[in-house]
Amino acid sequence: GIEQSLRPTSLQQYIGQHKVKENLAIFIEAAQMRNEPLDHVLLYGPPGLGKTTLASIIANEMGVQFRTTSGPAIERAGDLAAILSSLEAGDVLFIDEIHRLPRSVEEVLYPAMEDFCLDIVIGSGPSARSVRIDLPPFTLVGATTRAGLLTAPLRDRFGVLSRLEYYENADLCKIVERTSEIFHVQISENAANEIARRSRGTPRIANRLLKRVRDISQVKGETEISLDTTTKALEMLQVDQVGLDHIDHKLLLGIMDGFQGGPVGLDTIAATIGEESQTIEDVYEPYLLQIGFIQRTPRGRVVTPKAYEHFHREVPQA
Ligand code: ADE
Repeated sequence: GIEQSLRPTSLQQYIGQHKVKENLAIFIEAAQMRNEPLDHVLLYGPPGLGKTTLASIIANEMGVQFRTTSGPAIERAGDLAAILSSLEAGDVLFIDEIHRLPRSVEEVLYPAMEDFCLDIVIGSGPSARSVRIDLPPFTLVGATTRAGLLTAPLRDRFGVLSRLEYYENADLCKIVERTSEIFHVQISENAANEIARRSRGTPRIANRLLKRVRDISQVKGETEISLDTTTKALEMLQVDQVGLDHIDHKLLLGIMDGFQGGPVGLDTIAATIGEESQTIEDVYEPYLLQIGFIQRTPRGRVVTPKAYEHFHREVPQA
């Protein structure tokens, strides 16, 4: 589908994340020179920054198959054993949300990652015995929103740890222009910049906003997406001047109105605004922390004067 074709297929095409790309290019080249699989890679960082895309690029660059699954999808040790024993030499196995692997499954992964083997217990009681099955050498690429969510033994088995950062506007702008080309639509430079600027550093958001802006521009009969249409479309989508959406607003205003700006515990604010704590922590909070609208303190979350200023409000006096 179009979603698939939006994904770059080589490091060369992949925009942004310069440091991660530079490192991976070297590790991939070295592994290929040695005719070995790439060491296991952990990609971590907020959602929408391209972890899955990078994993598929690693497989492409290595010239191997890309197999994908996710932590929550693997319920039992046997499920993982089945996946691992179906791999071919050199394959990339991508496990998204790897921090959500059940512990019993994780233990199967340790010898698989370290020695490319499976330890299987056959039978039970006094007659139980353990057999060791060799696996083809493979590369595990794990993805998680935060490396800290992984158990230490799992984290320690990755040779390459890469943190994806929020994208710079210039890079997001290039992504918007690239996606526009794939869509066969013209976009003015200032319109592309506006979408970039309001995408919270996140390509997935930039591409989503571009699609909706394109819809409105098309219905208006424009030959090129204009800044004016972009501004109006973003207003319709309830995306504010700095890219914050309805839920960001609910979160910030919830702390300001319900708790005098904090500090307030994550679970309390989650219950107040009716969002999952985990979603707030993994999806919304990281960007608000990055732009300095909230701070984490030992006693909970605090909304900063900068956020009050954004909403044209007075900072409450203690
Ligand atoms: N589309 C989404 N993310 C991208 C990236 N980092 N580079 C190129 N195209 C993209």
